[in-house]
Amino acid sequence: MNPVRLQFDKKDEKTIVYRGFVVMTAEERPYIDALIAPLQNLEINEVLEVGFGLGISAESIQKTISPLEVHDIVEVEKSIFEDLCVFSMKYENVNPLHGDVYTYKFNRTYDLIFFDSFDYSLSFVNQGEYDEIEDSNETKRARQLLKKGGIYCHPYFGDMDMPEIHGFRLVRHGEIKVPPFLLWDGSECAMGQIGYYIKL
Ligand SMILES: C[S@@+](CC[C@H](N)C(=O)[O-])C[C@H]1O[C@@H](n2cnc3c(N)ncnc32)[C@H](O)[C@@H]1O
Repeated sequence: MNPVRLQFDKKDEKTIVYRGFVVMTAEERPYIDALIAPLQNLEINEVLEVGFGLGISAESIQKTISPLEVHDIVEVEKSIFEDLCVFSMKYENVNPLHGDVYTYKFNRTYDLIFFDSFDYSLSFVNQGEYDEIEDSNETKRARQLLKKGGIYCHPYFGDMDMPEIHGFRLVRHGEIKVPPFLLWDGSECAMGQIGYYIKL
């Protein structure tokens, strides 16, 4: 996907909705903060974040992981990229990258990838295999872009255990009950898994 400017149903500081699907809501903040908190005491100098959205995880990463040399954020959508450029003015280590994570030519590998994108092709609609498809594309790309021993972290909603992923070691920190928020498909989420994967 080339960088694009999309027509959102709604886009403000609290919500982004595309063709009826929730791309991001600020109500996710307690879960995102809890997901990022365990990364605090790890050796992390260079981070790639995939998808700026409302900047909630970007802010959480800045607060939690310090000192942080490089915080690259790749964003495909133009108006969200503009928000990212404004955000980057507050932090010396934030580099806004405009493009698609799957085709962007990164010039380094990373200690941490926080992967939180959204499939605008809506190819998950009626497929019922959304997680599986996302996982295989995502994890392949994460593996390419991580250093050995690097960490792959992404939101995992609901009460199901996080799955093992070949080539990674899963570190689980349990689950957390959060104030309910709407997922991409309009269903309610009140529970999230906390954990991450270490590239072997
Ligand atoms: C769920 S939101 C990210 C939410 C963000 N973590 C936050 O805390 O606000 C998904 C973001 O990924 C972006 N995105 C979707 N596909 C992408 C891709 N292939 N490459 C880069 N960014 C992408 C979307 O435009 C959107 O900003």
